[in-house]
Amino acid sequence: MVTLRSLALDDAPALTRIYSGASIRHTTGKPLTLDQAHEKIRASLARAAETPRAQWSWGVLAADEMIGLISLRRRTPSMGTISYILREDSWGNGYATHAADQVVTVAFTTVGLNRLEAMHHPDNPASGRVLIKAGFTHIGTSDRQVEGGTTVPYQVYALQNS
Ligand SMILES: CC(C)(COP(=O)(O)OP(=O)(O)OC[C@H]1O[C@@H](n2cnc3c(N)ncnc32)[C@H](O)[C@@H]1OP(=O)(O)O)[C@@H](O)C(=O)NCCC(=O)NCCS
Repeated sequence: MVTLRSLALDDAPALTRIYSGASIRHTTGKPLTLDQAHEKIRASLARAAETPRAQWSWGVLAADEMIGLISLRRRTPSMGTISYILREDSWGNGYATHAADQVVTVAFTTVGLNRLEAMHHPDNPASGRVLIKAGFTHIGTSDRQVEGGTTVPYQVYALQNS
C-alpha cells in the first residue's frame, strides 16, 4: 500500500505540503517553509551518514507520491522511538499503519533493537490507533511542557520484540 524510501533534496516541496493544516495541529504547530524543509532533509541525510547510526527517516509514498514522513531514532543500544506525520488529505487509508509496520520490522531486524516506544498528544487519538494496530501497548503518560508553560500528558506506547 505504501512504500518507504530515503529522502532527497527535491522532496522539499512535498515536505511543506505534509507539514501543514491538521497534520501540524498536535505536532510542530507551525507550517514548514521551503527553506526549513531543505534544512530538515539535509539534517536527515547528515544523520543517515553517521556511524554509529542513530536516526533513520523515510518518505512515505502512496501511488508514487510522497504523502508522509516516518522516522526511527535509536535512544539506547537496544531501544528506539518512532514518529510519523502524514499529509491530511491522505488520512484514513491505513497508510500510517502500513508505514509503521515496515519501520517496526526494520527496527527489530536490520537495526537490531528490541524495544520501541512512541508517544502522541492526547487530542490526537488517530495516532494512538496507528500504534495499537502496529502492535504497541499503551503504557502510560509522560508530561510535556508546551508553549505557554502548560503541561500536557502525552500518551506513551511501547512494543517489545518477542
Ligand atoms: C496519526 C496519522 C499519522 C494517522 O494517519 P492515517 O494514515 O490516517 O492512519 P491509519 O489510516 O493507518 O489509521 C488511523 C486510525 O485512527 C482512527 N481514527 C481516526 N480519527 C480518529 C479519532 N478522532 N479518534 C479515534 N480514532 C481515530 C481511524 O479510524 C484508524 O483506525 P481503524 O483502522 O481502526 O479504523 C495522521 O493523522 C497524522 O499525520 N497526524 C498528525 C501527525 C501526528 O500526530 N503524528 C503522530 C505523532 S508521532
